[in-house]
Amino acid sequence: MKVVVIGALGKVARQLVPLLADGGIGPVTDVAGVVRKPEQTDRVADLGAEPVLLDVEHASTEEIAAALVGADAVVWSAGAGGGDAARTYAVDRDAAIRSMDAAASAGVRRYVMVSWVGSTPDHGVPEDAGFFAYADAKLAADDHLRTTDLDWTILGPGTLTDEPPTGRVSLFPETGALPAGTDSSVPRADVAQVVAWTLREPATIGRFVRFSTGDTPIPAALRTMG
Ligand SMILES: NC(=O)c1ccc[n+]([C@@H]2O[C@H](COP(=O)([O-])OP(=O)(O)OC[C@H]3O[C@@H](n4cnc5c(N)ncnc54)[C@H](OP(=O)(O)O)[C@@H]3O)[C@@H](O)[C@H]2O)c1
Repeated sequence: MKVVVIGALGKVARQLVPLLADGGIGPVTDVAGVVRKPEQTDRVADLGAEPVLLDVEHASTEEIAAALVGADAVVWSAGAGGGDAARTYAVDRDAAIRSMDAAASAGVRRYVMVSWVGSTPDHGVPEDAGFFAYADAKLAADDHLRTTDLDWTILGPGTLTDEPPTGRVSLFPETGALPAGTDSSVPRADVAQVVAWTLREPATIGRFVRFSTGDTPIPAALRTMG
């Protein structure tokens, strides 16, 4: 399986790429990492992936498709990083949607979207909150993915932390707002493991996998999605 990771040097993806490249969590054989600045390509190669230079915010669907030809799976782990609303919509919604259409036109079957735990219509983020553009953009991208014929999985981690990995998660129901006060935090290192295991777990296809850190080993938790 050849996997293209979009946003390859993000804090999640830079832990995912070596996991995939090491082959410890199969069946990945080749990894390519998309970054947008020439000075980032050496770091991608150092992680064990083939660097692909592409600014997905400004690339057309056809240009993204050209970068995906020959791949079996795409992982979207890019993001504008919050802040500017226009850029958030341009990356987290519009570029993500183009990458899905590009995957379809390039003949890539599998698509794994790193979204967030609150990406449901009842996310409850007020329109005047700074976080609204992010919530709105991610939901629009996720909803577009659901309309495609791709073998998609939407991953919904909670608040990301830089704690060491535990290898264990707890799943939340696929729909509905989380009860107030729910601790949804999860280490980025575990999110990377969830992505890697998701690529080899068919039970996750067509599912929204919402999770926090927890008690269940990641592969066992994902198997229950079937
Ligand atoms: N933060 C949270 O608590 C949280 C919670 C749940 C889910 N998430 C989601 O988790 C995912 C990964 O999070 P993270 O912490 O790893 O994010 P991150 O460190 O901000 O990584 C995002 C990556 O996207 C890249 N990127 C931005 N614009 C790009 C473009 N136009 N072309 C190519 N690459 C581009 C960035 O590269 P540059 O260095 O070039 O900018 C960066 O490496 C995101 O999709 C986020 O929405 C976040």
